[in-house]
Amino acid sequence: MDKILELENVSKWFPVKKGWGKRSYLKAVDSVSFDIKRGETFGLVGESGCGKTTLGRVIVRLYQPTQGKVVFHDKVSSVDLFSLNEKDFQKYRKKIQMIFQDPYSSLNPRLTVLQIVTEGLSSANLSFTEKRRLASQALESVGLRAEYLYRYPHEFSGGQRQRIGIARALVMQPELLICDEPVSALDVSVQAQVINLLISLKEQYNLTYIFIAHDLAVVKYISDRVAVMYLGKVVELSDSRELFNRPLHPYTQALIESVPVADPKMRKLGKIQPIQGEITSPIDPPQACLFASRCPYAMKRCNENVPGLRAVEGSHQVACFLYY
Ligand SMILES: Nc1ncnc2c1ncn2[C@@H]1O[C@H](COP(=O)(O)OP(=O)(O)OP(=O)(O)O)[C@@H](O)[C@H]1O
Ligand code: SF4
Ligand SMILES: [Mg+2]
Repeated sequence: MDKILELENVSKWFPVKKGWGKRSYLKAVDSVSFDIKRGETFGLVGESGCGKTTLGRVIVRLYQPTQGKVVFHDKVSSVDLFSLNEKDFQKYRKKIQMIFQDPYSSLNPRLTVLQIVTEGLSSANLSFTEKRRLASQALESVGLRAEYLYRYPHEFSGGQRQRIGIARALVMQPELLICDEPVSALDVSVQAQVINLLISLKEQYNLTYIFIAHDLAVVKYISDRVAVMYLGKVVELSDSRELFNRPLHPYTQALIESVPVADPKMRKLGKIQPIQGEITSPIDPPQACLFASRCPYAMKRCNENVPGLRAVEGSHQVACFLYY
């Protein structure tokens, strides 16, 4: 499979105020490298605060990266998105769209559905009639009626709002969709419908997905490959089936074990339960394995060096000294 996107040492550090003028950084994303293959669904998992949304926002340049490269591969050319000025980036902005977690706050309540869905087309030289036609088409492809175009977000359910958010992305004719927890704010009964819609849209429009989620059951169901993040770093990356059958990193093992799979009373089946142990601060983190404070296998070297992500078998990559 061809690559569509290549991340090379991508970092996003947020400056944090500390006493006496000392500069400190919260390393939300720290030197992340991986490729996305055209046509795949690439799952991104990890506990709250590990940097999933920040990474998504950096890729679409909603956040300015601290360092690194994101190379977008077209059918004919390759370009580092971070090196482009705003004007040149416009051409690529429409190719990579993001769907946000909260369908309540991500739609402007003062705009009609038509205005929301066509917002991204404002720089395109299209007539109003053409924009309306594209918006109707996008609404219909997400299972909503074209007559909803003149209604406001508060007139819709959470599931319908998320469909509007998907239509807003689709109208741009993207190649890559970054879905940031697209169903986690929705009722369990609606989640499967939206997931199945995303799966069928992917087929219909030859899309590639980066699918961010807390919910391991959903990620396992939808993803071809999965990357596990911990405090801003990718600690394991593998084919989805391999990762869930044979997790190598102690953190991935703990994540998978922490999911209640057998209890029928658990309505939110697949949600991660807290893992024991104190979490290392992401502010000026130590040059060490950041999971060492919670890892039952931690050794001396784990507190002295940073384990890099390395392939251990085929394409299964892990960042842990137990394997090298
Ligand atoms: N704009 C910001 N300014 C400062 N710190 C931020 C900012 N955005 C995120 N952070 C911090 O960066 C870290 C990563 O946050 P992020 O929202 O990317 O995590 P996440 O994995 O998406 O979590 P969740 O699963 O809760 O959505 C957190 O420690 C967060 O507090
Ligand atoms: S590198 Fe060491 S502390 Fe980190 S996960 Fe592996 S064994 Fe545990
Ligand atoms: Mg998030």
